[in-house]
Amino acid sequence: MELIHTVAWMRQVAAEARRGDCPLGLVPTMGALHEGHFSLVREAKRQCSPVVVSIFVNPKQFGPSEDFQKYPRTLDADRAALENLGVDYTFAPAPEQIYPSGFRTAVSVEGLSDKLEGRSRPGHFRGVTTVVLKLFEIVQPRFAFFGRKDAQQVRIIRQMTGDLALDTEIAVCPIVREPDGLALSSRNAYLSAGDRRAATVLYRSLDALRREISAGDRDVVHLVATVRKIIEAEPGVALDYAEIVDADTLEPVMALRKTCCALLAARVGNTRLIDNALIEPAGESFIVTL
Ligand code: PAF
Repeated sequence: MELIHTVAWMRQVAAEARRGDCPLGLVPTMGALHEGHFSLVREAKRQCSPVVVSIFVNPKQFGPSEDFQKYPRTLDADRAALENLGVDYTFAPAPEQIYPSGFRTAVSVEGLSDKLEGRSRPGHFRGVTTVVLKLFEIVQPRFAFFGRKDAQQVRIIRQMTGDLALDTEIAVCPIVREPDGLALSSRNAYLSAGDRRAATVLYRSLDALRREISAGDRDVVHLVATVRKIIEAEPGVALDYAEIVDADTLEPVMALRKTCCALLAARVGNTRLIDNALIEPAGESFIVTL
C-alpha cells in the first residue's frame, strides 16, 4: 500500500489508475478507523480496483465548540489495518494541502443541510460537501463508499453529485453495530464505561420503533413519542432530536407511506451520537432496517 500526502501525487496516481480496466473506488474517512470503515473498504474492494482510502480530519465540518482538536488521530494503526485489507492507496493530506492559504470556496446543498444535524451543527454539512467535492475532484473515483449511519450526509452527497453531474456513483453500505446494537462510530472511543452502557438506548429505541411498526402502528406521532420516551428515560442521555422524515426531502412525515428514515441524535455524557432506521414500504407492511 502506498501512503500519499500531497494532492499533486494523489492526482497523478489516480489519473494513471483510471486508465486501467477496473473502476477506481474511494472510501473517504476521517481516520480512527473501525469495523464500520472496514466494511466500506471490503465493499469497495469487491467492486473496484484500485481502492483509495482518504484519511483527513476535516476542520471545516467541526463547529467552534466541537471536538476537532481532540478528534482521535490514529494514522499508524489505520495504515496497518488498511494494509491488511489490501487497500492500494491511502491518501492522508496535511490540512494545507486541502485548504491552502487563501482558500475561499464552499459547496453548499441548499434545503437539506440546515435541518436535523445541520440545525444542531450549523455549517457542518457545508464543510462535508466542500471536502467531499474536493476529494472527488482530486481522485475522480467511479464509485465512492459511505455508511448509512450518516444517513443525512449520504442524502446530501447524493444530491450534490446529481446536481453537479459528477461522474461518481455513491454506494451506501449498511450500519455496522456492536453485539448490543450500538452503531460503530469513531466517537464511541470517548464514552466512559457508564456512557457506553447508556449509549445502547439509541438502538433500543429504534428497535422498539421497529417492533411497533411490525405490530401495525402507522401513527408517526405515536412512533416518535415511543422513541423519545425510551431515550428520555435513560439517565445521562440528552435527546437532541428524534424525527421520522421522508428519505428524499428529509421533511417530517405525517404518515408512513413512502420510504422514510427515523433519525436521532443524543448527547451521551459529553459525546454526541447519531443513529437511524430505514423504513421501507413492502406491500401492505414496512421493512425497518437498523
Ligand atoms: O463521514 C465522514 O467520516 C466525513 O464526514 C467525511 C465524509 C469523510 C468527510 O470529511
